[in-house]
Amino acid sequence: MTADPAAPILMFDSGVGGLSVLGKVRAVLPQAPVMYVSDNAGLPYGSKTEAQIAARVSGLLGRMTERYRPRLVCIACNTASTIALASVREVLEVPIVGTVPAIKPAAAMTRTGVIGLLGTAATIRQGYVDRLEAEFAADKHLLRHGAPELVAAAEAKLRGQPVDPAVFAQAAATLRAMPGGQRIDTVVLACTHFPLLEEELAAAFGPGVRFIDGSDGIARRIAFLTEGQEWARHAGPDREADAGDLALFTKNDPTDEALMPVLKRYGLLRRLVF
Ligand code: DGL
Repeated sequence: MTADPAAPILMFDSGVGGLSVLGKVRAVLPQAPVMYVSDNAGLPYGSKTEAQIAARVSGLLGRMTERYRPRLVCIACNTASTIALASVREVLEVPIVGTVPAIKPAAAMTRTGVIGLLGTAATIRQGYVDRLEAEFAADKHLLRHGAPELVAAAEAKLRGQPVDPAVFAQAAATLRAMPGGQRIDTVVLACTHFPLLEEELAAAFGPGVRFIDGSDGIARRIAFLTEGQEWARHAGPDREADAGDLALFTKNDPTDEALMPVLKRYGLLRRLVF
């Protein structure tokens, strides 16, 4: 199928987390039109049930792909991907790229054999994560921690609001306190919000810990799946007059106005409520 050159890549998350993936996609495909979708009406996904998340994600993506005709959908959310990727793929016609906790590269990186995994409460209990662990890290020690307060911290940080550094110390201390936790040298950021906090987390874990997430692999996969396709990101001759890429929110939250400077840095010049 030949894609319309203006057809966007639709990037989906419950909030600002998907921007950590969008940054990598922009680096490899700067010419690609992107529609960024934040289901802020459903945030946080991490405290919802599997049934709630699956219904919400398939329903929203169904309506959005019908309306905006993207060439590809990227579920830039570990929680949604580990729960709903298979069912969304069954109902949508477009190619779908999901976000998988980066356990495989972490297993190749660790020297001590002890890996920490930070995700949402919903992600860390998924069979999907058990399967990745069994396949790629069976000879390693994987310590999981669900840290919803880090999702809230990333949302606050990107709005320029103060964040209590205790939340980072707490996340690090919880993993460190698990059996073997003192030997963690690699931490999987298994929630797309968390790479937005890498500096703060690095300070909390201290030297000798490396962080890994799935965003590089996702960007490469999207580039591969769209190879040879034409792109018309800024179709107008005058960039100033160009409406630019769109950030779509599912709820009108007045604090989202404070996200505009950050959204602009990611090339998302317009904000709309779906
Ligand atoms: N960014 C999402 C993830 O990657 C989840 C945040 C949330 O809604 O709890 O898992």
